[in-house]
Amino acid sequence: MLEVLNHPMITHKLTLMRKKETGTKDFRENLNEIAELMAYEVCRDLPLRPIDIETPMGPCTGYELAKPVVIVPILRAGIGLLDGIRRLVPTAKVGFIGLYRDEETLEPHEYFAKFPKDLDQAIVMVVDPMLATGGSAIDAITMVKARGAKQIKLVCLVGAPEGVKAMQKAHPDVDIYLAALDDHLNEIGYIVPGLGDAGDRIFGTK
Ligand code: PRP
Ligand code: URA
Repeated sequence: MLEVLNHPMITHKLTLMRKKETGTKDFRENLNEIAELMAYEVCRDLPLRPIDIETPMGPCTGYELAKPVVIVPILRAGIGLLDGIRRLVPTAKVGFIGLYRDEETLEPHEYFAKFPKDLDQAIVMVVDPMLATGGSAIDAITMVKARGAKQIKLVCLVGAPEGVKAMQKAHPDVDIYLAALDDHLNEIGYIVPGLGDAGDRIFGTK
């Protein structure tokens, strides 16, 4: 399943992020605001279970999340989505995967992995602003599956058709959520029109 979240507020904020003159502070703030808006839609199908509670007026059946949520940002740029999603799901646990893309081969390389326990019971959201060739997200999802994750959602800001196709082939069971599906990848593997290098724009490097 691919869902492109075409909400006017998401599109407006994403346009601010795409502008080359937008600085680090505004880039990061808009990214977190979009992440929170996206999380609202991504969480729409989370399972609930009934729970007996007492209101000041008497007993009632309420509902609570039936499964834990684990957010897994792909370092570095995935960290840019973390605070926004946690604003909506403050009880979510967080795992980390460190991957960087070799600039020549575009192949992802792992340098860090740390996860909470019981990934097999959780709804796991793998998050990264950019889905370019798809290599990083595909490897990240292979890593969480190897640790037992079964219900996985991939949340990215901007995707290229090439990356979506590769992801759907590698992990057809994973739902993909994007704020925008862009036109294509250029010859050096950047998304066009995209927003440039997300990690550099979030952290002010380069
Ligand atoms: C960027 C981005 C994704 C990856 C996408 O990370 O944040 O993780 O590239 O490209 P792909 O779909 O072709 O794998 P990068 O490797 O530049 O590392 P960074 O987050 O540390 O900047
Ligand atoms: N990584 C980025 O940060 N931007 C792109 O356009 C592609 C990969």
